[in-house]
Amino acid sequence: MNMNQKDIYILGIETSCDETSFSIVKNGRKEIATVIASQIDIHKNYGGVVPEIASRNHVKNITMVMEECLEKANMKIEDINAIGITYGPGLIGSLLIGLEAAKTLSFIYDKPLIPVHHIAGHIYANSLVKELEFPLLAIVVSGGHTELIKMTEHYKFQKLGGTLDDAIGECYDKVARVMNLPYPGGPKIDKISKKGKITYKLPLPLNDDSYNFSFSGLKSAVINLTHNEEQRGKEINKENLAASFQEIAVKSIIVKAKKAIQNEELKHIILAGGVASCTKLREELDKLGEELKVDMSYPPIKYCTDNATMIAAAAYYAYQDGRKADLYLNSKSNDRLC
Ligand code: KG4
Ligand code: ZN
Repeated sequence: MNMNQKDIYILGIETSCDETSFSIVKNGRKEIATVIASQIDIHKNYGGVVPEIASRNHVKNITMVMEECLEKANMKIEDINAIGITYGPGLIGSLLIGLEAAKTLSFIYDKPLIPVHHIAGHIYANSLVKELEFPLLAIVVSGGHTELIKMTEHYKFQKLGGTLDDAIGECYDKVARVMNLPYPGGPKIDKISKKGKITYKLPLPLNDDSYNFSFSGLKSAVINLTHNEEQRGKEINKENLAASFQEIAVKSIIVKAKKAIQNEELKHIILAGGVASCTKLREELDKLGEELKVDMSYPPIKYCTDNATMIAAAAYYAYQDGRKADLYLNSKSNDRLC
């Protein structure tokens, strides 16, 4: 591969949940090669991710994924400037597999080790599409997080608000389970809702002045509604229920995002996390962007859910900032971004 000495190549590694992924990104913005080994087909049988099984499969896959990524990029580890690794949050067993691989490579090849917070990764997936402009608002919507994060410069995160209970992705997955849709439920609900109508009445949670969210009440409302209909011998129209649920789930994000855009001085609004691929959410945010005349951009669909491309992108900005770890770096299953 033809390489310019001035360019910075980061190898990203992500194993925080059930995806084993390696990626090489140039200068934080240009993807060179990515490989993602997903375990969805395995965990689907259990209705969710089984941590022990996830760890074992990371061990099984990790060397192959690394070799395939280097082959795809036509590069050797020697060509890399630094290694970016998700140190947390996530499943501890899964995180440790990626971290040990990263530390081993860092030690053998004498490459700096850059620790990346998983949510910083989701945020920096946006820089693959458009350079981040500050101050910005990151609307973080994933399986484990739902937060409004303000950034005034690279790696300066300020939490405006967040969920008081379940994350939005978790809520999608639980509602999907009640509807007997396979794991992960978010994309299935998004898909079938397109054929449905808003016929079921569900409450808009936490419609207050804060920047916080709540999703457990919405989940319970869907469960109660389903049981009530069953008891009355009525069949649930899944497409309509999906559309009715998605309408409220998305609205609860939009209402708070709108408040933040109106109250804070912001130049750029971005989406981050698995639920960033939700079509309805993107549509409603586009409308909001037009209404409030603010610049919106979203990560590429393929890099909304977990991947190492976003980790390599985030690691580039950390590397530029001199953020390195030593070989005592440990995984953290719970760690706040800010
Ligand atoms: O960010 P992610 O890959 O994992 C975490 O870091 O948590 O997010 C996974 C979540 C799952 O809950 C999944 O159901 C949801 O993202 N998701 C979606 C869509 N695609 C994935 N939710 C709604 N609509 C989608 N199209
Ligand atoms: Zn994630």
